[in-house]
Amino acid sequence: MEDKVIIFDTTLRDGEQVPGCQLNTVEKIEVSRALEALGVDVIEAGFPISSPGDFRSVVEISKAITSPVICALTRAVKKDIEVAAEALQYAKRKRIHTGIGTSPYHIKYKIKTTPEEILRRAADAVKYAKKFVEDVEFYAEDAGRSDNEYLAKVIEAVIKAGATVVNIPDTTGYCLPEEYGTKIRYLKENVTNIDKAVISTHCHNDLGMATANTIMGVLNGARQVEVTMNGIGERAGNTSLEEVVMILKSHHNLGLKTDINSRLIFSTSRLVSTLMSMPVQANKAIVGRNAFAHSSGIHQDGVLKFRENYEIIDPHEVGIKESSIILTARSGRAALNHRLESLGYSFGKEELDDLYHRFLLLADKKKEINDEDLRILSGEVYSGERALKLELLQITCGKSTLPVATVGIRINGEVHTSTATGNGPIDASFTAVRQLISKTVHLEEFLIQAITKGSDDIGKVHIQVEHQGKIYYGFSANTDIITASVEAFIDAISKIK
Ligand code: KIV
Ligand code: ZN
Repeated sequence: MEDKVIIFDTTLRDGEQVPGCQLNTVEKIEVSRALEALGVDVIEAGFPISSPGDFRSVVEISKAITSPVICALTRAVKKDIEVAAEALQYAKRKRIHTGIGTSPYHIKYKIKTTPEEILRRAADAVKYAKKFVEDVEFYAEDAGRSDNEYLAKVIEAVIKAGATVVNIPDTTGYCLPEEYGTKIRYLKENVTNIDKAVISTHCHNDLGMATANTIMGVLNGARQVEVTMNGIGERAGNTSLEEVVMILKSHHNLGLKTDINSRLIFSTSRLVSTLMSMPVQANKAIVGRNAFAHSSGIHQDGVLKFRENYEIIDPHEVGIKESSIILTARSGRAALNHRLESLGYSFGKEELDDLYHRFLLLADKKKEINDEDLRILSGEVYSGERALKLELLQITCGKSTLPVATVGIRINGEVHTSTATGNGPIDASFTAVRQLISKTVHLEEFLIQAITKGSDDIGKVHIQVEHQGKIYYGFSANTDIITASVEAFIDAISKIK
């Protein structure tokens, strides 16, 4: 039988402490509903005494949410506890989370008192909270830097006072995973009444070890984890929900499970990111834009042969439609062909070789090749060899400079060059082209379009020229719009019989 790990989500409390990420009550209700659907067990809805807005949010979340326990934070102060109890009055299932610092730093420099006094205040706060709610969680702030023997005494006292959950925060994100795991084990083995409470982890990510510490806590006996969506939180953030959930899910041999519906992870992550105006870093585990994106040729080939060659999680499991193959200069033929087939193209080996060659030329100029680029490249392959081909284009232009263009065109296997001036680089190039051909052509239409928004993107050029009363169409696409324009012009001219 698998042991359940309780998911305590503090996105709306510790996560919301991030400067600039504050949500209004309506947005908090939206996030709470998403967290409920996701399957979290506890929602820490706020710190009611801290502001009227936080108070109101706890009240409204309490009314809106049915299944998860709604938790409100307090200091070990009577007034805080009273206000939290009032804010929780509509909650179907409620918890007060009270606590005090237990590290030498907090005792001596923050609270300026003695360890004995802290012990007394901790137990008193829990006893007082018990007058309002049955479910009381105690946090030993800065437990990560607290002496284990002293911490054990405090934990024993608060459990005796009625704490149902004991939270062991690594408030400053200082602990090493081994050290944090040992701390949890120490409490498990030395607090005589520990079986009467659930041990909770609450890790910060200052040294990038929040998830590792949380997992070590769980492996050593903790059965609740305090986490936030996308790992948001003060400074470097809190342990991220999605990482812990997917670690436990991927390593099912650990015999630990959560009630999270992992398929809702991605949508919840995006909701939190959007509402909090907090972008998710591209390489963020599980929910980052690149978490399931493969760009090197070897990896792309491996994933296309068998997904698990390079993926330990099926992206569907976290609500992402599919792994993406990013087409770059490092992609191989297999990846290119795979994408072309998904776009409905089918090429023989020689055509694919030609397309791959053009693809690499373009990919060298443009970081990422998108589907529109591929359609254009495919169109080029279909159109076959051109009678006229641009081989050289050299432009001089700029402010206070007369535009001059030199073009080299292959005509019947031989390259001919010509130089001309104009009122701009395109005009100069077109005049140079005209000097090389024996036909009279009039430019009827000339359209340049950027395909998407990036400055590194491809420009598409459509041209119509008139020759002896007939219209001929030319097209080209290139990251260099002047080259695209000249190629489109030549393309149109080459169609004249
Ligand atoms: O990091 C911390 O110690 C906290 C407590 C208030 C639980 O957020
Ligand atoms: Zn915290």
